[in-house]
Amino acid sequence: MKNNKEIIDKKLQKMRDLQEQSRLGGGEKRIADQHKKGKLTARERVELLLDRCSFREMDALAYHHSSEFGLDKQVFLGDGVITGFGEIDGQKVFIFSQDFTVLGGSLAAEHGRKICKIMDMALKNGCPVIGLNDSGGARVQEGVISLGAYADIFLRNTLSSGVVPQISVIMGPCAGGAVYSPAMTDFTIMVKKTSYMFVTGPKVVKTVTHQDFTSEELGGAMTHASKSGVAHFTAENDMDALEIVKKLTSYLPANNADDPPFLQNDDPTDRADEELNYIVPANPNQPYDMHDVIHKIADLGEFLEVHKDWAQNIIVGFCRLGGRSVGVVANQPAFLAGCLDINSSRKAGRFIRFCDAFNIPILTLEDVPGFLPGAEQEWGGIITNGAKLLYAYCEATVPKVTVITRKAYGGAYDVMNSKHVRGDLNFAWPTAELAVMGAKGAVEIIFKKEIDVADDPAKREAELIAEFDDKFAHPYIAASYGYIDDVIEPSQTRRRVIEAFNLLENKVDKNPPKKHGNVPL
Ligand code: HXC
Repeated sequence: MKNNKEIIDKKLQKMRDLQEQSRLGGGEKRIADQHKKGKLTARERVELLLDRCSFREMDALAYHHSSEFGLDKQVFLGDGVITGFGEIDGQKVFIFSQDFTVLGGSLAAEHGRKICKIMDMALKNGCPVIGLNDSGGARVQEGVISLGAYADIFLRNTLSSGVVPQISVIMGPCAGGAVYSPAMTDFTIMVKKTSYMFVTGPKVVKTVTHQDFTSEELGGAMTHASKSGVAHFTAENDMDALEIVKKLTSYLPANNADDPPFLQNDDPTDRADEELNYIVPANPNQPYDMHDVIHKIADLGEFLEVHKDWAQNIIVGFCRLGGRSVGVVANQPAFLAGCLDINSSRKAGRFIRFCDAFNIPILTLEDVPGFLPGAEQEWGGIITNGAKLLYAYCEATVPKVTVITRKAYGGAYDVMNSKHVRGDLNFAWPTAELAVMGAKGAVEIIFKKEIDVADDPAKREAELIAEFDDKFAHPYIAASYGYIDDVIEPSQTRRRVIEAFNLLENKVDKNPPKKHGNVPL
């Protein structure tokens, strides 16, 4: 009869063997293949992302129970996805990481159930979900069961939306309906050259449209970061992508009932910046880079830009002000003169709704000549799309502070967090111009007849423009109506916006009770 120790040791050994088998995923050769493609393995990614030794795996010993098409001979512990929880800079997160070395990371019943399990736990416990995607999509052998498993995830993406932050990192293929899970999360990060996303791949596109594209052209990281806006961030490689996740989560609360993290730093809250006084050119048609303004105001000059390469006429992203996480929405006069168009409205609207859902105050920096004119914009639905941005600002109840640096013209004045849409504290620089339109356009409309009959029409027009500028191209009429709360010296902007957000710290504002609004989708 074996002694007690021998029996226990055998059981321990069995557990360790199974765990080791699970850790190996698809085996050494497939791991080597993964590395050859310049990709880390699913497990390496999890370990790099999470704080050292914080990862606790769940369902490492789960496997599929299918025998279709020879699957009974391809059983891998873990079933092609690593799931569990851990910490990023001390903040609890749930994570799944698809393992391409196991059946191409394909998703079926068990794989999907594992993801759903951690999503359910994340929702109950109020923790962010990070998904590292590297998958050939629905596991063909498991047929419709795979499709059902995807739908189970989509449902959870939707139910979690606005409750816990969801971040997707695309680190390999992501095709077909599989793309809709990342699309429903809050942020998508794509790795350059090794990841792609499309509903139908290059072969189908060629058959249907006779157009030839590589995977990279059709759905690579830069395509989605610059053309479609599907990707919020691009990364040079896997490590870089994981660093972006860490930076991003440092600005986010764990859930919608939590405050965003407050990170003290030694940048003085009253730091003045004289250069801001002269940053706006005297000529209203001359551009300047709004990034410079953001960097001068933000703690330590740090700004995590979201959607950097898409709809560059508006800038959105996160910074800290006096240690507090703040979402920044800023018109960019250096691109399309800072006009609002379809894409910039969608970009900023979605960002504002994210910030509002997660209690992140919003700073708006405004220099906007209006909505972009043109048939392309009209036919593309600038009305509905512009309304998304307007709706997002109107609906948001987080602290909202605006600084108008130069132009606040037309409908865009209303949209960009004016007092009328519940801006809490609205400041203007002395260079601000709040008007229905610029002086030239206004004079052409109001004084057309007078200019036409003048002896020297050009001279008369110039005089009228100067007069109009004198009368309206400043912030003082708006100030006289309380449409702005104060005209401030630009150099003092950092101090004033930090004071404003401190003041608004305990702001309470509510929308009428409803099932949900009908955002102009
Ligand atoms: C089962 C799959 C698979 C899948 C890959 N594999 N995708 N197994 N179901 N969907 C397996 C391969 O058979 C192979 O196994 C291993 O994973 C690695 O794949 P390779 O083809 O050798 O790798 P690579 O050359 O890098 O090509 C990767 C790939 C290709 C581009 C992803 O595998 C591919 O095209 N796969 C099919 C993609 C697809 O059509 N998926 C369905 C999309 S529709 P062996 O054992 O041979 O090494 C979809 C619907 C979702 O997902 C709907 C939700 C509503």
